[in-house]
Amino acid sequence: MEYKIGFLGFGNMAQAMAAGWRRAGALGEGQMLACAKHWDKLCRSAAEYGVQPCRTAEEVVRESDVVIVAVKPYLIEEVLTPLRPLLGEKAVVSVAAGWLCGRFEALLPGARHVSIMPNTPVRVCEGVILMEDAHTLDESQAAQVRRLLSALGLVETVEGRLMGIGGAISGCGPAFAAMFIEALGDAGVRHGLPRAAAYRLAAQMLAGTGRLHLETGEHPGAMKDAVCSPGGTTIVGVAALERGGMRAAVLDAIDAIQNK
Ligand SMILES: NC(=O)c1ccc[n+]([C@@H]2O[C@H](COP(=O)([O-])OP(=O)(O)OC[C@H]3O[C@@H](n4cnc5c(N)ncnc54)[C@H](OP(=O)(O)O)[C@@H]3O)[C@@H](O)[C@H]2O)c1
Repeated sequence: MEYKIGFLGFGNMAQAMAAGWRRAGALGEGQMLACAKHWDKLCRSAAEYGVQPCRTAEEVVRESDVVIVAVKPYLIEEVLTPLRPLLGEKAVVSVAAGWLCGRFEALLPGARHVSIMPNTPVRVCEGVILMEDAHTLDESQAAQVRRLLSALGLVETVEGRLMGIGGAISGCGPAFAAMFIEALGDAGVRHGLPRAAAYRLAAQMLAGTGRLHLETGEHPGAMKDAVCSPGGTTIVGVAALERGGMRAAVLDAIDAIQNK
């Protein structure tokens, strides 16, 4: 890939994406640029990810083919409004929560933009990247952006009205998954496993179970049943989790997010 990617804002999410692209070998030295608010801090983080720091957002836009908008949502208008004349036909990819196609149409009429919602595992190329189905990229830009994002994990196109619930699962889910890993780790330690080993086992188990589902398409219920032999040990654990209301707790957690 020869084109250049420019980050407007180089905080947690932008750095995770840059790390993923480097790890995947999708983008190398000189292909990523970024600007941020604090120059010294930007220089340190940019050096870490092989990204060229820029003094201004204008410089980032001028030098880039794809502009990633990675500032906090409340700063979007302030940052993008003065850049409007420079954006031209460039692909603008926003990662900002709550900024969907219609809102960008109002802010940047005529611009080429798409809204996505990546999650933090993009850092290790195992992310989920929700992509709104409505966008204004041309066909080749859309293909280019999709190819680029695919290097960071699973790209799932969804309707704008489903970006919120999708983001609750893929974006908030890593916190729930981490809690599950931590809880299994505690259980392992309680029964004598060293803590680091317990976390490793739990984390790889979770990653592997997810991978198995993605590769086989097997129903999660069937995957559970396959591990539960009659009168065996796993079903005893499943029964305990059901008594603890695990499924209801997960449903409630997503309801709480949706109702916030
Ligand atoms: N973090 C996540 O898990 C996550 C997940 C999905 C989507 N997102 C989205 O990603 C976006 C960024 O979130 P984040 O967590 O990465 O935030 P963050 O770590 O606070 O990063 C924000 C970046 O914006 C820079 N910035 C602030 N004012 C600016 C300006 N006027 N011009 C250019 N850059 C400016 C900051 O610079 P300084 O550091 O120098 O102040 C910083 O580099 C948000 O819109 C959020 O909705 C985040």
